[in-house]
Amino acid sequence: MLKRAMLVISLLVLVGATSSRAAIDFIYPSPNSSVPSSGHLIFKLNQVDVSSLRITLNGVAGDPVNVGSPEYRKLFQDFFIAQALWDPGVNRIIVDLFKGAQKIESANLNVFFTEGGTKNAPPEYTPVVMHKPESERLCQSCHVMNPTPAQMNSSIEKENPCYICHKKIMSVKYVHGPAGTYSCGYCHTSKGNPKHAVVKRGAELCYECHSDMALQIKKRKFVHGPIEAGMCESCHDAHGSPNESQLIKPINELCLSCHGHLRNQTHVVRTTTGTGHPLSGKPDPLRKASGRQMSCVSCHNPHGGDVRYFFINNPEDRMLLCQMCHNK
Ligand code: HEC
Ligand code: HEC
Ligand code: HEC
Ligand code: HEC
Ligand code: HEC
Ligand code: HEC
Ligand code: HEC
Ligand code: HEC
Repeated sequence: MLKRAMLVISLLVLVGATSSRAAIDFIYPSPNSSVPSSGHLIFKLNQVDVSSLRITLNGVAGDPVNVGSPEYRKLFQDFFIAQALWDPGVNRIIVDLFKGAQKIESANLNVFFTEGGTKNAPPEYTPVVMHKPESERLCQSCHVMNPTPAQMNSSIEKENPCYICHKKIMSVKYVHGPAGTYSCGYCHTSKGNPKHAVVKRGAELCYECHSDMALQIKKRKFVHGPIEAGMCESCHDAHGSPNESQLIKPINELCLSCHGHLRNQTHVVRTTTGTGHPLSGKPDPLRKASGRQMSCVSCHNPHGGDVRYFFINNPEDRMLLCQMCHNK
C-alpha cells in the first residue's frame, strides 16, 4: 500500500516537472502533423545546459550533435535546424538530450509524410504550415521574414532570405530558369494564403513567360489532354528536378504513370520475337547529337500536334513517321 502511494507521488513529481516546461518545443513540423515534402526539422531547446543531442528516426539512431559549443550557441542559440529525410507514412522521432555523457531528457514527435500532398494522411495528422505568424515570430531575430520584393529576387545568395532557408530547391541537376536566377518573388507573393503560396498556377502562370508556346498550342489541331487542362505541373516541376526539362519523373515513367495500359501490350509493332517497338535502351537516331535514348517523345510530341497521337513530324501518312528513322 505504502509502496503504491510512493509510486503515485513520484509519478506526480515527474509529471509536474515535465509539464511546467517541455524539454523541447517542436516548431516544424509541429507534433502530429502531416508534411508534403522532406523539408527541415526545427525545434527549440528549453534547457540551457544541454551539451549534445541525438535523434532517432523510426528506430535508427543518428550521430550525436554537439549543440553546446560556444560557436554553435553564437550562431543558433537554442535552435536546432536540420534537413529531414522522412520515410513514407508515420515517422517516429525521439530526441535524446545529453549533458556530457549523461542523458537528461527525451522528447517525442510523430509526423506523417506523403510525397506531394497531405491529402492522403490519416485524419489524426493535421497538415502543417511553416509561414504563419506564430512560427515566423521565432525566426525574425536572425532571419528576414518579411522581405522586400528586391530581397525576394536578389541573386546575391546571402541577401535572398528565401534562398538561405530553401537552398535545397537549387541543388538539383536541371534548375528551371527563374528559380535559377533567384526570382522567387515572380511566382511567390507575400499576399498568398498561406503566406508565400503561389497565386497563379499551371498554364496561366507558365504562359506569362512561355508565350511562344502558348501561341503554338493555340494553332495545334490536337492538344494533349493535360495541356488542354492547363496542368503543366503534372509533368514539370516549377523549380527543377534530376530530369531534363525539369520533368517530375524520367520521361517513360512519367507517360506510363497515366497511360499504364501500354505496359502490358506491344506498342507500334509486333516483332518476330513477340515484343513491341523498342521504347527505351537504344540510341534515338534523331537525337544522336545529344546522346538521348529512345523514349515516348522520340515519336510523340508531349504537348500536341497537327495529327492524331501528336507524332513529332505531323505526318499525313504514318509511314512518314517510321521513315524518319527507318529510311532504307
Ligand atoms: C527562416 C527560414 C525561412 C525563410 C526566410 C523562408 N522560408 Fe519558406 N519555409 C521554411 C521552412 C522551414 C518551411 C517548411 C518546409 C521546409 O522545411 O523546407 C517553409 C515552407 C515554405 C513553403 C510551403 C508552405 C508553408 O508555409 O509551409 C513555401 C511556399 C515557402 N516556404 C516559400 C518561401 C518563400 C517564397 C520565401 C521568401 C520570401 C521563404 N519561404 C522564406 C523556412 C523559411
Ligand atoms: C539565433 C539565430 C537563429 C534563429 C532564431 C533562427 N535561425 Fe535559422 N539559421 C540561423 C543561421 C546562422 C543559419 C545559417 C545561415 C546560412 O547558411 O547562411 C540558419 C539557417 C536556417 C535554415 C537553412 C538550413 C539549411 O538547410 O541549410 C533554415 C531552414 C532555417 N534557418 C530556418 C529557421 C526557422 C524556421 C527559424 C524560426 C522558427 C529559424 N531558422 C530561427 C540562425 C537562426
Ligand atoms: C516559375 C514559378 C516559381 C518560381 C520562380 C519559384 N517557385 Fe517556388 N513554387 C512554385 C510552385 C508552382 C509551387 C508549388 C506550390 C504547391 O504545390 O502548393 C512552389 C512551391 C514552393 C515551395 C513549397 C514546396 C516545396 O517544394 O518545398 C517552396 C519552399 C518554394 N516554392 C520556394 C521557392 C524559392 C525559395 C524560390 C526561389 C529560389 C522559388 N520557390 C521560385 C513556383 C515557383
Ligand atoms: C518568370 C518567367 C517564367 C515563368 C513564369 C515560367 N518559366 Fe519556364 N523558363 C523560363 C526561362 C527564362 C527559362 C530558361 C530559358 C530557356 O532555357 O529556354 C525557362 C525554361 C523552362 C523549361 C526548360 C526549357 C528547356 O529547353 O529545357 C521548361 C520545361 C519550362 N521552363 C517550363 C515552365 C513551366 C511548366 C512553367 C509554369 C509552372 C514555367 N516554365 C514558368 C521562364 C519562366
Ligand atoms: C504530359 C506531360 C507534359 C505536360 C502536361 C507539359 N509538358 Fe512541357 N514537356 C514535356 C516533355 C516530356 C518535354 C521534353 C520534350 C523533349 O525532350 O523532347 C517538355 C518540354 C517543355 C519545354 C521545353 C521544350 C519546348 O517544347 O519548348 C517547355 C518550355 C515546356 N515543356 C513547357 C510546358 C508548359 C508551359 C506546359 C503547360 C502548358 C507544359 N509544358 C506541359 C511534358 C509535358
Ligand atoms: C497527367 C496524365 C498524363 C500524362 C503524364 C501523360 N498523358 Fe497522354 N493523355 C492524357 C489524357 C487525359 C489524354 C486524353 C484522353 C485519352 O485519349 O486517353 C491523353 C492522350 C494521349 C495521347 C492521344 C491518345 C489518343 O487516343 O488520341 C497520346 C499519344 C499521349 N497521351 C501520349 C503521352 C505521352 C507520350 C506522354 C509522356 C510525355 C503522356 N501522354 C503523358 C494524360 C496524360
Ligand atoms: C517508335 C515510335 C513510338 C514510340 C517510341 C512510342 N509511340 Fe506511342 N504510338 C506510336 C504510334 C505509331 C501510335 C499509333 C498506334 C496505333 O494506332 O496502333 C501510337 C499510339 C499511342 C497512344 C494512343 C493509343 C493507345 O494505345 O492508347 C498512346 C497513349 C501512346 N502511343 C503513348 C506512348 C507512350 C506512353 C510511349 C512511351 C512509353 C510511346 N507511346 C512510345 C508510336 C510510338
Ligand atoms: C525516332 C526514331 C524511330 C521512329 C520514328 C521509328 N522507329 Fe522503329 N526503331 C527505332 C530504333 C532505334 C530501333 C532499334 C534498332 C536496333 O535495334 O538497333 C527500331 C526498331 C524497329 C523495328 C525492329 C524491332 C526489332 O526489335 O526487331 C521495327 C519493326 C520498327 N522499328 C518499326 C517501326 C515502325 C513501323 C515505325 C513507324 C510506325 C517506326 N519503327 C518508327 C527507331 C525508330
